[in-house]
Amino acid sequence: MNKIAVIGSGTMGNGIAHTFAQFGYEVNLIDVCQEALNKGLNTIGKNIDRQVAKGTLTEEEKTAALRRITTFTDLKTGVAEADLTVEAATENLELKLKIFRELDAYAKAGSVLASNTSSISITQIAAVTSRGSNVIGMHFMNPVPVMKLVEVIRGYATSDETTALVMELSRKLGKAPVEVNDYPGFVANRILMPMINEAIFSLYEGVAGVEEIDTVMKLGMAHPMGPLQLADFIGLDVCLAILNVLYKGFGNPKYAPCPLLVNMVMAGKNGVKSGEGFYDYA
Ligand code: CAA
Repeated sequence: MNKIAVIGSGTMGNGIAHTFAQFGYEVNLIDVCQEALNKGLNTIGKNIDRQVAKGTLTEEEKTAALRRITTFTDLKTGVAEADLTVEAATENLELKLKIFRELDAYAKAGSVLASNTSSISITQIAAVTSRGSNVIGMHFMNPVPVMKLVEVIRGYATSDETTALVMELSRKLGKAPVEVNDYPGFVANRILMPMINEAIFSLYEGVAGVEEIDTVMKLGMAHPMGPLQLADFIGLDVCLAILNVLYKGFGNPKYAPCPLLVNMVMAGKNGVKSGEGFYDYA
């Protein structure tokens, strides 16, 4: 694999593009408008600068990595030559299905089609293509250049060959891939989101305040961030969407999102990206 297309230049997409480019891959970064692409490139530049400042990358490696990224607003052209496409668009089922129908039409025969979805069924995504054996989940964690895990999700039709290719490629990015099967929330979010939801319930029921809840989990369990800060960092809208997938997928009330989370999302308090969530970022 040499040429990688990444669809979406938001938080996850730009982190994925950054990581592939840093490890020597040619990256086609695709988004709907040049403004979004420029914003993504700007973030990549700033994050690579952190690595240069820490001495983990040289100026030459920075220049080479940035030179490997080409931007596209046309999906058809951007994916045509790619050996692997990683879709990292908004966590919305209809949008992902639309993108995968287009990928089926335009991506090179035999190329791997991966989704960075955090909870949408890979089997359902693969079913809108005529090449389910080449479709797989490649779930990176935020911040992508830093976090070691890639959750590799096998859909019902994903082949052993596609899985082996993606496991190997993830290792070449310095990551530790873990293979999991395609059930709601996979492993990462099946475990993480109920914890975050429980932290929100603890706040909602007045057990303790925001900082107290986060301090308990940071200092008591050695988590790098408390669950409420982490929810802000992930995006409260994303947390709600994932909890709804778990709730609907298992039909079990234990996954029902806390009413406080629902209210905050309805009010547009989506965490870091909106300037306010459990904490204020303005
Ligand atoms: N790009 C490159 N480097 C970055 C970076 C980025 N976007 N963000 C942070 N870094 C680097 C910093 O330069 C620093 O490098 P050194 O270790 O070499 O000094 C290192 O990462 C740590 O950063 P900071 O010192 O700024 O801050 P920190 O020590 O508080 O760590 C953190 C920041 C890594 C984000 C840490 O708080 C953490 O691990 N938080 C939890 C992250 C987490 O749980 N992520 C998973 C979320 S769930 C998800 O993504 C999937 C989903 O489906 C919802």
